[in-house]
Amino acid sequence: MVSSIPTSKTDRFRLGIKTPVQETLLTPRFYTTDFEAMAQMDLSGQADEMAAVLAELRADYNRYHFVRDQEFEQCWDQIDGETRRAFIDFLERSCTSEFSGFLLFKELSRKLKDRNPTLAEAFGLLARDEARHAGFLNKAMADFGLSLDLGYLTKHRTYTFFPPEWIIYTVYLSEKIGYWRYILVYRHLEQHPENRFYPLFRYFENWCQDENRHGDFFKVLLRSQPKLWNNWKARLWARFFLLTVFVTHTLTVLERATFYESIGINPYEYNQQVIQRTNTTAERAFPSILDTNRPEFFRRLERCATANQKLVEIANSQRPKVIGFLQKLPWIVVILWQMLRLYLLPPIDAEATRATVR
Ligand SMILES: [Fe+2]
Ligand SMILES: [Fe+2]
Repeated sequence: MVSSIPTSKTDRFRLGIKTPVQETLLTPRFYTTDFEAMAQMDLSGQADEMAAVLAELRADYNRYHFVRDQEFEQCWDQIDGETRRAFIDFLERSCTSEFSGFLLFKELSRKLKDRNPTLAEAFGLLARDEARHAGFLNKAMADFGLSLDLGYLTKHRTYTFFPPEWIIYTVYLSEKIGYWRYILVYRHLEQHPENRFYPLFRYFENWCQDENRHGDFFKVLLRSQPKLWNNWKARLWARFFLLTVFVTHTLTVLERATFYESIGINPYEYNQQVIQRTNTTAERAFPSILDTNRPEFFRRLERCATANQKLVEIANSQRPKVIGFLQKLPWIVVILWQMLRLYLLPPIDAEATRATVR
C-alpha cells in the first residue's frame, strides 16, 4: 500500500507517504456548496441558541487535549499483520474525513467573513477543531511510517457540490454519528483495557465532545431554517439522509470488521448501537426519523452490506469492465431494492414527539 521510491520530481507520493486508497462509494468525500445562499441565511429564529453554541465553541475546552503523551513514544512493530493493516486503514479513513470537514468549514468561514460574521466565526471554530483531529490522526499514522499527503488531497480530490440544505442535514448527521462512533469505542475500551493496543483511543472521550458540539451547532442552523423541517418535503429529505448515512455506516463497518474485532468489538452490535443512538439523537433536530426497532430494519441494512461485499470481490477480480459491470448489476439492484424497502417503512414523527415533550 505504500508507494515505492520516487522516480521523478513530479512524483506525488514520496517515500512513506500513504497512497490514497482506491476511491469507492465509501471513501470519505470532499464537499463544496453555494456560499452566497449560505451567507444569506437568516438566523434570527434561533438567535439565543446560536449565541449559546457559539459560546461553547469559543470556550475551546480541548485546547490542550490533543498533545501526545509519553505512551506514544515507543516502537509499534508489535501491531502487525491483519491488525496493523486494518488499523492503518481506520486511521486513514478517519484522517481523511476529519480533513474533509476542515476544508469545508475553513472555506465557509473564509467566504462568509464579511457577509455573515456569526456563521463565519462558528465555521472558523469548527475548522480549528477538525484541523486538530486530522493532525492528531496524521501523527498516529506517522508512528506506522506513513502520512497522508494533505496538500495533495486538497488539490486533487474531486469536490462534490451540495446545496446548503443538504450540507446542513448531512454534516449534522456526520457530526452526531461521529460522536457516537468515538464514544462507544471509548466506553468499550474503558471496560476492556486489554484490547486498547494503541494510546489514541484514550483521547476519544474529549474528542467526541467536539463532534457533539459541532452537531449542536448544525442542529441550531437546521432549526433556524423552518423550510428544513416544517413541510412534507423536509420530512422526505430528512429520512433520505438518515438512510444514506446509515447504509454507508453499515457497509463501512462490516467491510472493516477486522478492525473492530481487533479491539474486541462485535461489528454487527456496534453498527446497530451507533445507528440507534444517532437516530434517537436526530429526533431533536429532524422533522422525521426512521423506526430502527422494526425487526427487518437491520436485516435489510445487513443485506446491503453482503451485496456490497460481492461488489468489492468483483471489483478486485480484474475482470474485463463489461463483464464486471454485468456481474455487479444484480448486487446493485439488491442494495437499491433494500434501501427502497427501508425508505418506505413507516417513519417516526419527530415534530409530534417534540410537541409532546414540551
Ligand atoms: Fe472531528
Ligand atoms: Fe466535527
